Formats: sequence, C-alpha cells, structure tokens
Amino acid sequence: MTILSTARLRLEPFDDAHLDGLYELNRDPVVMRYITGRPETRDDTLASIGRVKARWAEWGYSWWAFIEQGSGQVVGAGCIQHLARDAANPLEIGWRLRQDHWGRGLATEAAQTMAGWAFDALKTPLLTSVCHVDNTASAKVMQRLGMRYRGVERWYDMDTAVYEITDQEWQARSAQ
Ligand SMILES: CC(C)(COP(=O)(O)OP(=O)(O)OC[C@H]1O[C@@H](n2cnc3c(N)ncnc32)[C@H](O)[C@@H]1OP(=O)(O)O)[C@@H](O)C(=O)NCCC(=O)NCCS
Repeated sequence: MTILSTARLRLEPFDDAHLDGLYELNRDPVVMRYITGRPETRDDTLASIGRVKARWAEWGYSWWAFIEQGSGQVVGAGCIQHLARDAANPLEIGWRLRQDHWGRGLATEAAQTMAGWAFDALKTPLLTSVCHVDNTASAKVMQRLGMRYRGVERWYDMDTAVYEITDQEWQARSAQ
C-alpha cells in the first residue's frame, strides 16, 4: 500500500485508525451534497473503510485519508479508482475536504500528487474525473490539474461534468 506525501499532507491508505476523522468528514451534509446527497453514519464510514481496504489489497490503489502534517488530523480524502468502481472503466481521480479546510489549495495539492503517481507508478494512459454538474468547486480542481472538459455524462446516477487528461498531456504539462 502506498503512502504519498505533499508539502502539507500525508496521504495514507484508509485504515481503521482513520474512522473518527473520516466520519467527521463524511457526516457533513454540505461535504456530501454533490456526492451521495446525504451524510454518512458512523457505520457507513466503517463499512467504507472495510471496502477500501479490500480494494487496496486487490488493486493496489483506492482511497487515501489526507492527514495534515503537523496537526495529524484527517482533513480530507481522495482516490484513484475505476470510474463507477467498475474495473472495465478507466481510472478516476477524486477528492473531498472538510469544510473548514476549503480554500487552502489542499485538494489541488493532493490531486497533483495522486495523479502523478497514477501516471508514473500505475502507468495509466488516462485519468478521468467526474462531478455533479453544479459542483463548480470540484470542476475548478479538475481545471487546475490541466484536465480537459469532455462533456456531460451520466455517472453515479447523476448528470456529471466529465474531465480527462492523458499521460502525454500530463507529462507535457509537468515538463513546463
Ligand atoms: C471540491 C473541493 C475539495 C474543493 O476544495 P477547494 O478548497 O475549493 O479546492 P483546493 O483545495 O484546490 O483550493 C483551491 C482554492 O483555494 C485557494 N487557495 C488558497 N491558498 C492556496 C494555495 N496555497 N494554493 C492553491 N490554492 C490556494 C484558491 O485560490 C482556490 O480558491 P478559489 O476556488 O476561490 O479560487 C471542496 O469544495 C469539497 O470538499 N467539496 C465537497 C466534496 C466534493 O464535492 N468533492 C468532489 C466530488 S466530485
């Protein structure tokens, strides 16, 4: 399992020790507004940690908890996973932050590192990202990463804005 580091964060594969922090994140209806539309219960969070641990074991990638360096607090989470969790689909990158940590650039910082790892270590030819069409804050993260808008498509039972970036595009951007 891969731990990643950024200037301000440590990205740790979901573990039982993250339960309190991840529940604090996912119990917030504002955070969940454009994801499932409902806050998680502690049991939901516990079950998701179990599923994610199984995916790390099976695939070698899944969800990380974003741990703030210094405070040691869980301030968010992010993933590299198959779009719609279907192995037939290309890889998807995703993120969420605790509301009191929005506006600090942390999602973009984590996403840069997760994307770089997906291209360099996993050798994925393409990364896709999707968000509810009204989720402009998330679309802005996709744009900051240099992802191209592909259009509106139906994923996760929602109309989503779809963005993507190829390995070639990512490497050209990184070389700038
Ligand atoms: C999507 C989400 C993670 C975006 O969070 P965010 O804080 O806006 O995104 P970033 O971490 O990239 O921060 C960028 C913002 O921080 C500001 N910022 C402040 N300090 C910064 C720094 N050091 N570096 C970069 N940006 C900084 C930027 O100007 C930008 O603000 P702006 O959008 O008003 O211009 C957040 O809105 C969220 O968790 N939403 C709920 C969950 C969700 O919907 N997830 C996505 C599902 S598809």
